[in-house]
Amino acid sequence: MSLLRRSRSLLLASAVAAVVVSSGVALIGTAQAATTLGASAAQTGRYYGAAIAAGRLGDATYTGILNREFNSVTAENEMKWDATEPSQGRFTYTNGDRILNQGIAMGAKVRGHALLWHQQEPGWAQSMSGTALRNAMMNHVTQVATHYRGRIHSWDVVNEAFADGGSGGRRDSNLQRTGNDWIEAAFRAARAADPAAKLCYNDYNTDGINAKSTGIYNMVRDFKARGVPIDCVGFQSHLGTTISGDYQANLQRFADLGVDVQITELDVAQGGNQANIYATVTRACMAVSRCTGITVWGIRDSDSWRTGENPLLFDNSGNKKAAYTSVLNALNAGGPSSPGPSSPSPSVSTSPQPGGACSASVSLNSWNGGFVATVRVTAGSSGVNGWTVGVNLPAGSAVTSTWSAGNSGTTGTVNFRNVSYNGRLAAGGATEFGFQGTGAGPTVSPSCAAA
Ligand code: XIL
Repeated sequence: MSLLRRSRSLLLASAVAAVVVSSGVALIGTAQAATTLGASAAQTGRYYGAAIAAGRLGDATYTGILNREFNSVTAENEMKWDATEPSQGRFTYTNGDRILNQGIAMGAKVRGHALLWHQQEPGWAQSMSGTALRNAMMNHVTQVATHYRGRIHSWDVVNEAFADGGSGGRRDSNLQRTGNDWIEAAFRAARAADPAAKLCYNDYNTDGINAKSTGIYNMVRDFKARGVPIDCVGFQSHLGTTISGDYQANLQRFADLGVDVQITELDVAQGGNQANIYATVTRACMAVSRCTGITVWGIRDSDSWRTGENPLLFDNSGNKKAAYTSVLNALNAGGPSSPGPSSPSPSVSTSPQPGGACSASVSLNSWNGGFVATVRVTAGSSGVNGWTVGVNLPAGSAVTSTWSAGNSGTTGTVNFRNVSYNGRLAAGGATEFGFQGTGAGPTVSPSCAAA
Protein backbone atom coordinates (compact mmCIF):
# COMPACT_ATOMS: atom_id res chain seq x y z
CA MET A 1 0.00 0.00 0.00
CA SER A 2 2.80 2.40 0.80
CA LEU A 3 3.95 2.11 -2.77
CA LEU A 4 0.57 3.10 -4.07
CA ARG A 5 0.28 6.01 -1.65
CA ARG A 6 3.76 7.16 -2.55
CA SER A 7 3.14 6.95 -6.26
CA ARG A 8 -0.20 8.76 -5.93
CA SER A 9 1.40 11.71 -4.21
CA LEU A 10 4.00 11.97 -6.93
CA LEU A 11 1.75 11.62 -9.92
CA LEU A 12 0.19 14.73 -11.36
CA ALA A 13 -1.67 13.66 -14.46
CA SER A 14 -5.13 12.42 -13.60
CA ALA A 15 -5.04 9.92 -16.45
CA VAL A 16 -2.04 8.24 -14.90
CA ALA A 17 -3.63 8.47 -11.47
CA ALA A 18 -6.57 6.51 -12.84
CA VAL A 19 -4.19 3.69 -13.74
CA VAL A 20 -3.01 3.61 -10.13
CA VAL A 21 -6.57 3.48 -8.84
CA SER A 22 -7.52 0.67 -11.17
CA SER A 23 -4.38 -1.22 -10.16
CA GLY A 24 -5.55 -1.00 -6.57
CA VAL A 25 -8.81 -2.64 -7.54
CA ALA A 26 -6.99 -5.38 -9.42
CA LEU A 27 -4.74 -6.06 -6.44
CA ILE A 28 -7.75 -6.51 -4.21
CA GLY A 29 -9.21 -8.79 -6.88
CA THR A 30 -6.26 -11.17 -6.61
CA ALA A 31 -7.26 -11.98 -3.03
CA GLN A 32 -10.50 -13.51 -4.31
CA ALA A 33 -10.88 -16.90 -5.99
CA ALA A 34 -8.61 -16.79 -9.03
CA THR A 35 -9.72 -18.39 -12.28
CA THR A 36 -6.40 -19.57 -13.70
CA LEU A 37 -3.76 -21.89 -12.28
CA GLY A 38 -0.97 -19.32 -12.29
CA ALA A 39 -2.99 -16.51 -10.73
CA SER A 40 -4.34 -18.87 -8.10
CA ALA A 41 -0.89 -20.21 -7.17
CA ALA A 42 0.47 -16.64 -7.07
CA GLN A 43 -1.97 -15.76 -4.29
CA THR A 44 0.27 -17.72 -1.92
CA GLY A 45 3.55 -16.75 -3.60
CA ARG A 46 3.78 -19.95 -5.61
CA TYR A 47 4.00 -20.60 -9.34
CA TYR A 48 2.11 -23.05 -11.54
CA GLY A 49 4.11 -24.11 -14.55
CA ALA A 50 4.14 -26.37 -17.57
CA ALA A 51 6.84 -28.15 -19.53
CA ILE A 52 6.65 -26.78 -23.05
CA ALA A 53 8.11 -27.79 -26.40
CA ALA A 54 9.55 -25.26 -28.87
CA GLY A 55 7.99 -27.21 -31.74
CA ARG A 56 4.49 -26.61 -30.40
CA LEU A 57 4.70 -22.84 -29.95
CA GLY A 58 3.08 -22.30 -33.37
CA ASP A 59 -0.08 -24.10 -32.22
CA ALA A 60 -2.59 -21.41 -31.23
CA THR A 61 -4.67 -23.66 -28.98
CA TYR A 62 -1.52 -24.67 -27.12
CA THR A 63 -0.14 -21.17 -26.68
CA GLY A 64 -3.59 -19.86 -25.81
CA ILE A 65 -3.77 -22.21 -22.81
CA LEU A 66 -0.12 -21.58 -21.96
CA ASN A 67 -0.48 -17.79 -21.89
CA ARG A 68 -3.74 -17.93 -19.98
CA GLU A 69 -2.99 -20.48 -17.29
CA PHE A 70 0.70 -20.71 -16.44
CA ASN A 71 3.27 -18.44 -14.81
CA SER A 72 6.28 -20.74 -15.11
CA VAL A 73 7.72 -22.75 -17.99
CA THR A 74 10.24 -25.60 -18.25
CA ALA A 75 11.92 -26.70 -21.47
CA GLU A 76 10.72 -30.26 -22.06
CA ASN A 77 13.88 -31.15 -24.03
CA GLU A 78 15.48 -27.97 -25.37
CA MET A 79 17.97 -27.25 -22.56
CA LYS A 80 19.22 -30.84 -22.17
CA TRP A 81 22.81 -31.78 -22.93
CA ASP A 82 22.12 -33.36 -26.35
CA ALA A 83 20.18 -30.25 -27.39
CA THR A 84 22.64 -27.62 -26.16
CA GLU A 85 26.02 -29.24 -26.94
CA PRO A 86 25.45 -31.63 -29.85
CA SER A 87 29.17 -31.83 -30.53
CA GLN A 88 31.82 -31.16 -27.94
CA GLY A 89 32.38 -27.46 -27.36
CA ARG A 90 29.78 -26.38 -29.94
CA PHE A 91 26.80 -24.94 -28.11
CA THR A 92 23.40 -24.43 -29.72
CA TYR A 93 20.79 -22.42 -27.84
CA THR A 94 18.25 -21.68 -30.57
CA ASN A 95 15.46 -23.84 -29.18
CA GLY A 96 16.37 -23.30 -25.54
CA ASP A 97 16.21 -19.57 -26.18
CA ARG A 98 12.77 -19.98 -27.75
CA ILE A 99 11.56 -21.47 -24.47
CA LEU A 100 13.30 -18.74 -22.47
CA ASN A 101 11.81 -15.98 -24.63
CA GLN A 102 8.35 -17.48 -24.42
CA GLY A 103 8.68 -17.43 -20.64
CA ILE A 104 9.97 -13.84 -20.61
CA ALA A 105 7.17 -12.69 -22.93
CA MET A 106 4.63 -14.25 -20.54
CA GLY A 107 6.25 -12.70 -17.48
CA ALA A 108 6.76 -16.28 -16.27
CA LYS A 109 9.49 -17.88 -14.23
CA VAL A 110 11.74 -20.16 -16.30
CA ARG A 111 12.96 -23.48 -14.88
CA GLY A 112 16.17 -24.78 -16.41
CA HIS A 113 16.13 -28.53 -17.14
CA ALA A 114 18.62 -30.17 -16.91
CA LEU A 115 22.38 -29.60 -16.78
CA LEU A 116 23.60 -33.16 -16.11
CA TRP A 117 21.59 -36.35 -16.67
CA HIS A 118 22.65 -39.83 -17.73
CA GLN A 119 19.90 -39.79 -20.38
CA GLN A 120 19.85 -37.57 -23.46
CA GLU A 121 23.62 -37.24 -23.26
CA PRO A 122 25.02 -36.35 -26.68
CA GLY A 123 26.67 -39.32 -28.40
CA TRP A 124 30.17 -37.87 -27.96
CA ALA A 125 29.72 -37.74 -24.18
CA GLN A 126 28.22 -41.22 -23.96
CA SER A 127 31.46 -42.66 -25.24
CA MET A 128 33.65 -40.68 -22.79
CA SER A 129 34.87 -41.56 -19.31
CA GLY A 130 37.26 -40.55 -16.56
CA THR A 131 38.90 -37.14 -16.35
CA ALA A 132 38.03 -36.20 -19.92
CA LEU A 133 34.34 -36.78 -19.20
CA ARG A 134 34.48 -34.97 -15.82
CA ASN A 135 36.04 -31.95 -17.50
CA ALA A 136 33.45 -32.05 -20.28
CA MET A 137 30.65 -32.29 -17.69
CA MET A 138 31.86 -29.27 -15.74
CA ASN A 139 32.46 -27.26 -18.89
CA HIS A 140 28.91 -28.06 -19.97
CA VAL A 141 27.46 -26.91 -16.64
CA THR A 142 29.51 -23.71 -16.72
CA GLN A 143 28.75 -22.82 -20.34
CA VAL A 144 25.00 -23.44 -20.23
CA ALA A 145 24.47 -21.82 -16.83
CA THR A 146 26.51 -18.83 -18.01
CA HIS A 147 24.49 -18.49 -21.21
CA TYR A 148 21.26 -18.33 -19.18
CA ARG A 149 22.79 -16.42 -16.25
CA GLY A 150 20.30 -14.22 -14.39
CA ARG A 151 17.32 -15.51 -16.32
CA ILE A 152 16.60 -18.90 -14.74
CA HIS A 153 14.49 -19.19 -11.60
CA SER A 154 15.68 -22.72 -10.78
CA TRP A 155 18.08 -25.10 -12.49
CA ASP A 156 17.82 -28.87 -12.29
CA VAL A 157 21.60 -29.15 -11.92
CA VAL A 158 21.58 -32.93 -11.63
CA ASN A 159 18.71 -35.16 -12.72
CA GLU A 160 17.96 -38.77 -11.70
CA ALA A 161 21.31 -39.73 -10.17
CA PHE A 162 19.90 -42.17 -7.59
CA ALA A 163 19.10 -45.84 -8.17
CA ASP A 164 15.61 -47.32 -8.02
CA GLY A 165 14.93 -50.15 -5.62
CA GLY A 166 16.02 -50.56 -2.04
CA SER A 167 19.70 -49.62 -2.11
CA GLY A 168 19.25 -45.90 -1.51
CA GLY A 169 22.50 -45.43 -3.41
CA ARG A 170 23.65 -43.84 -6.63
CA ARG A 171 22.67 -45.07 -10.05
CA ASP A 172 25.51 -46.45 -12.13
CA SER A 173 26.33 -44.27 -15.14
CA ASN A 174 29.37 -42.89 -16.90
CA LEU A 175 28.78 -39.68 -14.93
CA GLN A 176 28.82 -41.55 -11.61
CA ARG A 177 31.96 -43.45 -12.62
CA THR A 178 33.90 -40.16 -12.79
CA GLY A 179 33.75 -40.15 -8.96
CA ASN A 180 31.09 -39.83 -6.27
CA ASP A 181 31.77 -36.10 -5.91
CA TRP A 182 30.45 -35.32 -9.40
CA ILE A 183 27.14 -34.02 -8.03
CA GLU A 184 28.67 -31.52 -5.63
CA ALA A 185 31.18 -30.44 -8.28
CA ALA A 186 28.27 -29.73 -10.63
CA PHE A 187 26.43 -27.68 -8.00
CA ARG A 188 29.54 -25.60 -7.26
CA ALA A 189 30.12 -24.96 -10.97
CA ALA A 190 26.49 -23.95 -11.45
CA ARG A 191 26.60 -21.54 -8.49
CA ALA A 192 29.75 -19.89 -9.81
CA ALA A 193 28.19 -19.47 -13.26
CA ASP A 194 24.77 -18.18 -12.14
CA PRO A 195 24.60 -17.04 -8.52
CA ALA A 196 20.96 -15.89 -8.90
CA ALA A 197 19.47 -19.24 -9.92
CA LYS A 198 18.15 -21.64 -7.32
CA LEU A 199 19.99 -24.93 -7.72
CA CYS A 200 17.91 -28.11 -7.52
CA TYR A 201 18.48 -31.85 -7.41
CA ASN A 202 15.61 -33.52 -9.34
CA ASP A 203 14.41 -37.16 -9.36
CA TYR A 204 11.44 -39.56 -9.75
CA ASN A 205 10.06 -42.40 -7.60
CA THR A 206 10.56 -40.06 -4.68
CA ASP A 207 6.84 -39.63 -4.04
CA GLY A 208 6.90 -40.74 -0.42
CA ILE A 209 9.38 -41.82 2.24
CA ASN A 210 11.22 -44.73 0.62
CA ALA A 211 14.79 -45.98 0.21
CA LYS A 212 15.46 -43.82 -2.84
CA SER A 213 14.07 -40.57 -1.37
CA THR A 214 15.94 -41.29 1.86
CA GLY A 215 19.19 -41.68 -0.06
CA ILE A 216 18.60 -38.27 -1.62
CA TYR A 217 17.58 -36.84 1.74
CA ASN A 218 20.89 -37.98 3.23
CA MET A 219 22.82 -36.38 0.37
CA VAL A 220 21.00 -33.06 0.79
CA ARG A 221 21.58 -33.12 4.55
CA ASP A 222 25.26 -33.76 3.95
CA PHE A 223 25.45 -30.96 1.34
CA LYS A 224 23.82 -28.49 3.74
CA ALA A 225 26.20 -29.55 6.53
CA ARG A 226 29.27 -29.09 4.33
CA GLY A 227 28.16 -25.90 2.58
CA VAL A 228 27.72 -27.43 -0.86
CA PRO A 229 25.39 -24.95 -2.65
CA ILE A 230 21.96 -26.58 -3.00
CA ASP A 231 18.69 -24.64 -2.76
CA CYS A 232 15.93 -26.97 -3.79
CA VAL A 233 14.82 -30.53 -4.46
CA GLY A 234 12.53 -31.37 -7.36
CA PHE A 235 10.02 -34.19 -7.08
CA GLN A 236 9.12 -35.22 -10.62
CA SER A 237 5.87 -36.92 -9.55
CA HIS A 238 5.12 -39.02 -12.63
CA LEU A 239 2.27 -40.81 -10.89
CA GLY A 240 0.11 -43.85 -11.63
CA THR A 241 -3.34 -44.55 -10.18
CA THR A 242 -2.35 -44.36 -6.50
CA ILE A 243 -0.37 -41.95 -4.33
CA SER A 244 1.65 -42.70 -1.24
CA GLY A 245 0.03 -41.57 2.03
CA ASP A 246 3.24 -39.86 3.13
CA TYR A 247 3.70 -37.71 0.00
CA GLN A 248 3.33 -34.48 2.01
CA ALA A 249 5.42 -35.74 4.94
CA ASN A 250 8.22 -36.51 2.50
CA LEU A 251 8.16 -32.97 1.07
CA GLN A 252 8.14 -31.57 4.60
CA ARG A 253 11.19 -33.54 5.75
CA PHE A 254 13.21 -32.12 2.86
CA ALA A 255 11.92 -28.59 3.56
CA ASP A 256 13.01 -29.05 7.17
CA LEU A 257 16.59 -29.50 5.91
CA GLY A 258 16.49 -25.87 4.73
CA VAL A 259 15.82 -26.32 1.00
CA ASP A 260 12.81 -25.37 -1.12
CA VAL A 261 10.84 -28.20 -2.64
CA GLN A 262 9.14 -28.11 -6.03
CA ILE A 263 6.85 -30.51 -7.88
CA THR A 264 8.66 -30.51 -11.20
CA GLU A 265 7.13 -32.93 -13.74
CA LEU A 266 3.66 -33.80 -12.51
CA ASP A 267 1.46 -36.09 -14.58
CA VAL A 268 -1.01 -38.70 -13.34
CA ALA A 269 -2.35 -41.72 -15.20
CA GLN A 270 -5.97 -41.27 -16.20
CA GLY A 271 -8.34 -43.42 -14.18
CA GLY A 272 -11.00 -43.04 -11.55
CA ASN A 273 -8.58 -41.30 -9.20
CA GLN A 274 -6.87 -38.83 -11.48
CA ALA A 275 -8.64 -35.72 -10.20
CA ASN A 276 -8.22 -36.85 -6.58
CA ILE A 277 -4.52 -37.55 -6.98
CA TYR A 278 -3.96 -34.16 -8.60
CA ALA A 279 -5.83 -32.56 -5.67
CA THR A 280 -3.76 -34.51 -3.13
CA VAL A 281 -0.48 -33.37 -4.71
CA THR A 282 -1.70 -29.76 -4.86
CA ARG A 283 -2.86 -29.77 -1.23
CA ALA A 284 0.46 -31.29 -0.14
CA CYS A 285 2.42 -28.49 -1.81
CA MET A 286 0.07 -25.84 -0.43
CA ALA A 287 0.54 -27.23 3.08
CA VAL A 288 4.34 -27.03 2.96
CA SER A 289 5.42 -23.40 3.08
CA ARG A 290 8.73 -24.17 1.31
CA CYS A 291 6.93 -25.87 -1.56
CA THR A 292 7.32 -22.98 -3.99
CA GLY A 293 5.60 -24.27 -7.12
CA ILE A 294 4.19 -27.05 -9.25
CA THR A 295 4.97 -27.88 -12.88
CA VAL A 296 2.89 -30.25 -15.01
CA TRP A 297 4.79 -32.14 -17.70
CA GLY A 298 2.87 -30.86 -20.72
CA ILE A 299 -0.39 -29.05 -21.43
CA ARG A 300 -2.90 -31.29 -23.29
CA ASP A 301 -3.03 -35.08 -23.09
CA SER A 302 -1.91 -35.12 -26.72
CA ASP A 303 1.25 -33.20 -25.73
CA SER A 304 2.28 -35.76 -23.10
CA TRP A 305 5.32 -38.04 -23.35
CA ARG A 306 3.09 -40.72 -21.71
CA THR A 307 1.27 -41.58 -24.94
CA GLY A 308 -2.14 -43.11 -24.35
CA GLU A 309 -2.22 -42.43 -20.61
CA ASN A 310 -4.02 -39.06 -20.83
CA PRO A 311 -2.19 -37.83 -17.73
CA LEU A 312 -2.59 -34.03 -18.00
CA LEU A 313 -5.10 -31.28 -17.10
CA PHE A 314 -6.41 -30.50 -20.59
CA ASP A 315 -7.87 -32.97 -23.10
CA ASN A 316 -6.67 -33.33 -26.69
CA SER A 317 -8.91 -30.45 -27.77
CA GLY A 318 -7.65 -28.16 -25.01
CA ASN A 319 -10.73 -28.45 -22.79
CA LYS A 320 -10.29 -28.38 -19.01
CA LYS A 321 -10.63 -31.84 -17.45
CA ALA A 322 -12.03 -32.70 -14.01
CA ALA A 323 -8.42 -32.81 -12.80
CA TYR A 324 -8.03 -29.15 -13.78
CA THR A 325 -10.97 -28.12 -11.59
CA SER A 326 -9.69 -30.13 -8.65
CA VAL A 327 -6.27 -28.44 -8.92
CA LEU A 328 -7.75 -24.94 -9.21
CA ASN A 329 -9.99 -25.54 -6.20
CA ALA A 330 -7.09 -26.84 -4.13
CA LEU A 331 -4.96 -23.81 -5.08
CA ASN A 332 -7.79 -21.42 -4.25
CA ALA A 333 -8.35 -23.11 -0.88
CA GLY A 334 -5.02 -21.51 0.06
CA GLY A 335 -2.44 -22.48 2.62
CA PRO A 336 0.64 -20.94 4.17
CA SER A 337 2.35 -18.46 1.88
CA SER A 338 5.55 -19.45 0.23
CA PRO A 339 8.24 -18.52 1.03
CA GLY A 340 7.49 -17.62 4.63
CA PRO A 341 4.61 -15.40 5.78
CA SER A 342 5.67 -12.12 4.17
CA SER A 343 4.16 -11.18 0.84
CA PRO A 344 4.50 -10.20 -1.88
CA SER A 345 7.83 -11.86 -2.40
CA PRO A 346 10.29 -10.35 -4.86
CA SER A 347 10.02 -12.21 -8.12
CA VAL A 348 13.39 -11.08 -9.43
CA SER A 349 16.39 -10.18 -7.37
CA THR A 350 20.13 -10.21 -7.29
CA SER A 351 22.28 -9.98 -4.24
CA PRO A 352 24.59 -6.95 -3.96
CA GLN A 353 27.94 -7.63 -5.56
CA PRO A 354 30.64 -6.70 -3.07
CA GLY A 355 33.37 -4.77 -4.79
CA GLY A 356 31.31 -4.03 -7.91
CA ALA A 357 30.35 -0.43 -8.69
CA CYS A 358 26.68 -1.07 -7.94
CA SER A 359 24.01 -3.72 -8.17
CA ALA A 360 20.24 -3.58 -8.55
CA SER A 361 17.39 -5.86 -7.58
CA VAL A 362 13.69 -5.53 -8.27
CA SER A 363 10.57 -6.48 -6.33
CA LEU A 364 7.42 -6.77 -8.37
CA ASN A 365 3.81 -6.39 -7.48
CA SER A 366 1.95 -7.61 -10.57
CA TRP A 367 -1.61 -8.21 -11.59
CA ASN A 368 -3.29 -9.17 -14.82
CA GLY A 369 -2.29 -6.35 -17.17
CA GLY A 370 0.07 -4.29 -15.05
CA PHE A 371 2.69 -4.03 -12.36
CA VAL A 372 4.52 -1.81 -9.91
CA ALA A 373 8.27 -2.41 -9.66
CA THR A 374 10.45 -1.24 -6.78
CA VAL A 375 14.15 -1.25 -7.61
CA ARG A 376 16.83 -1.22 -4.93
CA VAL A 377 20.23 0.15 -6.00
CA THR A 378 23.16 -0.84 -3.79
CA ALA A 379 26.65 0.60 -4.09
CA GLY A 380 29.66 -1.71 -4.04
CA SER A 381 32.66 -1.33 -1.80
CA SER A 382 33.72 2.06 -3.22
CA GLY A 383 30.48 4.04 -3.27
CA VAL A 384 29.11 5.89 -6.35
CA ASN A 385 28.35 9.51 -7.34
CA GLY A 386 25.56 8.59 -9.73
CA TRP A 387 24.03 5.44 -11.21
CA THR A 388 22.07 4.10 -14.15
CA VAL A 389 19.96 0.96 -14.06
CA GLY A 390 18.88 -0.92 -17.19
CA VAL A 391 15.66 -2.93 -17.02
CA ASN A 392 14.50 -5.26 -19.80
CA LEU A 393 10.76 -5.29 -20.23
CA PRO A 394 9.02 -8.12 -22.03
CA ALA A 395 7.46 -7.40 -25.44
CA GLY A 396 4.10 -5.64 -25.03
CA SER A 397 5.02 -4.02 -21.69
CA ALA A 398 5.58 -0.29 -21.18
CA VAL A 399 6.53 2.07 -18.35
CA THR A 400 3.71 4.51 -17.54
CA SER A 401 5.24 6.41 -14.60
CA THR A 402 8.49 6.58 -12.63
CA TRP A 403 9.38 7.98 -9.21
CA SER A 404 12.75 8.81 -7.65
CA ALA A 405 14.49 8.34 -11.01
CA GLY A 406 14.32 9.57 -14.59
CA ASN A 407 13.89 7.18 -17.50
CA SER A 408 14.80 7.24 -21.16
CA GLY A 409 12.42 5.12 -23.22
CA THR A 410 9.37 3.23 -22.01
CA THR A 411 9.61 -0.13 -23.81
CA GLY A 412 12.23 -2.80 -24.37
CA THR A 413 15.41 -1.94 -22.46
CA VAL A 414 14.53 1.08 -20.32
CA ASN A 415 17.37 3.01 -18.67
CA PHE A 416 16.75 4.74 -15.34
CA ARG A 417 19.08 7.41 -13.94
CA ASN A 418 19.32 8.81 -10.44
CA VAL A 419 17.68 12.15 -9.61
CA SER A 420 19.61 14.91 -7.79
CA TYR A 421 19.08 13.66 -4.27
CA ASN A 422 19.76 9.92 -4.62
CA GLY A 423 22.79 9.64 -6.90
CA ARG A 424 25.42 9.67 -4.19
CA LEU A 425 25.68 6.37 -2.32
CA ALA A 426 28.32 5.54 0.27
CA ALA A 427 30.08 2.18 0.07
CA GLY A 428 27.38 -0.47 0.60
CA GLY A 429 24.69 2.23 0.76
CA ALA A 430 21.34 1.78 -0.96
CA THR A 431 18.41 3.74 -2.37
CA GLU A 432 15.13 2.81 -4.03
CA PHE A 433 13.19 4.04 -7.02
CA GLY A 434 10.09 2.70 -8.67
CA PHE A 435 8.02 2.60 -11.77
CA GLN A 436 4.61 1.48 -12.86
CA GLY A 437 3.80 -0.19 -16.15
CA THR A 438 1.28 -1.96 -18.29
CA GLY A 439 1.72 -5.58 -19.36
CA ALA A 440 3.99 -8.00 -17.56
CA GLY A 441 6.81 -6.73 -15.34
CA PRO A 442 10.50 -7.42 -15.83
CA THR A 443 11.62 -11.01 -15.26
CA VAL A 444 15.32 -10.45 -15.78
CA SER A 445 17.54 -8.92 -13.12
CA PRO A 446 18.35 -5.27 -13.86
CA SER A 447 21.89 -4.14 -14.63
CA CYS A 448 23.52 -1.30 -12.67
CA ALA A 449 26.39 0.96 -13.66
CA ALA A 450 28.09 3.86 -11.91
CA ALA A 451 27.45 7.07 -13.89
C1 XIL B 1 11.04 -36.62 -21.43
C2 XIL B 1 10.37 -35.78 -22.51
O1 XIL B 1 9.06 -35.45 -22.07
C3 XIL B 1 10.31 -36.54 -23.80
O2 XIL B 1 9.86 -35.70 -24.85
C4 XIL B 1 11.70 -37.07 -24.17
O3 XIL B 1 11.59 -37.88 -25.33
C5 XIL B 1 12.28 -37.86 -23.03
O4 XIL B 1 12.31 -37.06 -21.86
N1 XIL B 1 12.18 -37.30 -16.52
C6 XIL B 1 12.74 -36.12 -16.92
C7 XIL B 1 12.31 -35.50 -18.20
O5 XIL B 1 13.52 -35.52 -16.17
O6 XIL B 1 13.35 -34.81 -18.84
C8 XIL B 1 11.74 -36.52 -19.15
O7 XIL B 1 11.21 -35.82 -20.29
C9 XIL B 1 10.68 -37.34 -18.47
C10 XIL B 1 11.27 -38.08 -17.30
